Amino acid sequence: MLTAVDNKKKYTIITYGCQMNFSDSEVVSSILNNNGYQLSDNHINSDLILLNTCSIREKAEITIRKKLQSFKKLKKKNSNLKIGVLGCMAERLKEKFLVEEKMVDLVVGPDAYRDIPNLLRDVEVGNNAVNVILSKDETYGDIDPSRLKSNGISAFVSITRGCDNMCTFCVVPFTRGRERSRDPKSIIKEILKLKNEGYSEITLLGQNVDSYLWYGGGLKKDFKHASELQKKSSLCFSKLLELIAVNFKNIRIRFTTSNPQDMTDDVLKVMAKHKNICKHIHLPVQSGSDKILSLMNRKHTISEYKELINKIRRIIPNCGISHDIISGFPNESEDDHKLTLELMNYVKYDFGFMFKYSERPGTPAYKKLDDNVPEKIKQRRLQEIIDLQQKHSFNNLKDYVGTNCEVLVEKESKKSSQFWCGRNSQNIMVVFPKKNHKPGDFISIKIINNTSTTLIGKS
Ligand code: 5AD
Ligand code: SF4
Repeated sequence: MLTAVDNKKKYTIITYGCQMNFSDSEVVSSILNNNGYQLSDNHINSDLILLNTCSIREKAEITIRKKLQSFKKLKKKNSNLKIGVLGCMAERLKEKFLVEEKMVDLVVGPDAYRDIPNLLRDVEVGNNAVNVILSKDETYGDIDPSRLKSNGISAFVSITRGCDNMCTFCVVPFTRGRERSRDPKSIIKEILKLKNEGYSEITLLGQNVDSYLWYGGGLKKDFKHASELQKKSSLCFSKLLELIAVNFKNIRIRFTTSNPQDMTDDVLKVMAKHKNICKHIHLPVQSGSDKILSLMNRKHTISEYKELINKIRRIIPNCGISHDIISGFPNESEDDHKLTLELMNYVKYDFGFMFKYSERPGTPAYKKLDDNVPEKIKQRRLQEIIDLQQKHSFNNLKDYVGTNCEVLVEKESKKSSQFWCGRNSQNIMVVFPKKNHKPGDFISIKIINNTSTTLIGKS
């Protein structure tokens, strides 16, 4: 006899890209679970395969198209199998996707996930279904995410959606829409639930978390039209961060991503004041040249950025700092590139994410600037940036040798079943003998050695 569960359609979600996408997949999973679908960890026997996609660089899109191609055989074998594309590529390519990738049945943009059950009903009767409408106020605040691939220890909590920054190279403002913040009550409720389930660490997520502003709902850009009462009772990021830190003393708090122009002194002071807020700031700079920053429409200069770095070091002396840097943006000269290396030598970041510029159709850079740095030069500059970062990472990590770090035990080390790994407050991975520790414990680890990415310790 079939049980009720056996009758449910099975789905798989494969997620690409940033942490926001992973967090969104948990929202989608919750919506599907509440609408008669059951998660399967194997796409081979699924009735529905969803790909949550990324458009940030061309390479990401190529990888996803290859993955889609690999489903062709499955679709031939199982004519009932439905394939859906979610996320940034869905938003960027819209209906075009259905034509280009003939076996796709469903295309859903990042603000339309609530509509998935309706769209699936359309698909069931043989129609293609598309919803790529971007929203002014969707934050999925009331949806309890269904944790996917969770270790039961750390979880993402989304606090803002979209981005208003309009960096000229970036597709995100087009694929994820305008910036809006989530109701703090729903954020607190989600963290409370995580706490009750035994989670020990949360990461507050948004394209631009420091620009969080709750004034009752709606786009950040419309705050200027809010009533006096709404303005008076509004809540900014430093206040939200403090509210969470005070109410969840036993939970470690991280946040990402910060943009230099929105990082206030108040945020730094709140970080310094509360032990449970991790001492790590991810602060993308993209380039060390003011000329390039201006072409990128970044809202800061290098001297402002350096001032902010100095302030961080003054207020939070032990703060880890990481970056995003792009090599080979249009018109980047050898001197501009040298300024990037110079900035790296000034900041001495702990780690970073480094990319070659990838021209994205529809962005302001695509429309106005010639992608004129030859591929070979982009690659060479990227390698120089990576090499310098590796040197800085190694030297910074060496400074931990002989000190004690508080580490949250996360999982078994990939290299040895005798070791656990977990991160310290500065977001650096620490590997240490298992002994009788267990995942979820906060323990003090004495650092005895390091590589450029990992600290090795003993308890
Ligand atoms: N090309 C290369 N890197 C990009 N990023 C965003 N758009 C592009 C692009 N078109 C990088 C930026 C950003 C990070 C998330 O991805 O460094 O901070
Ligand atoms: Fe893209 Fe810039 Fe927004 Fe980051 S801040 S998501 S790089 S537009």
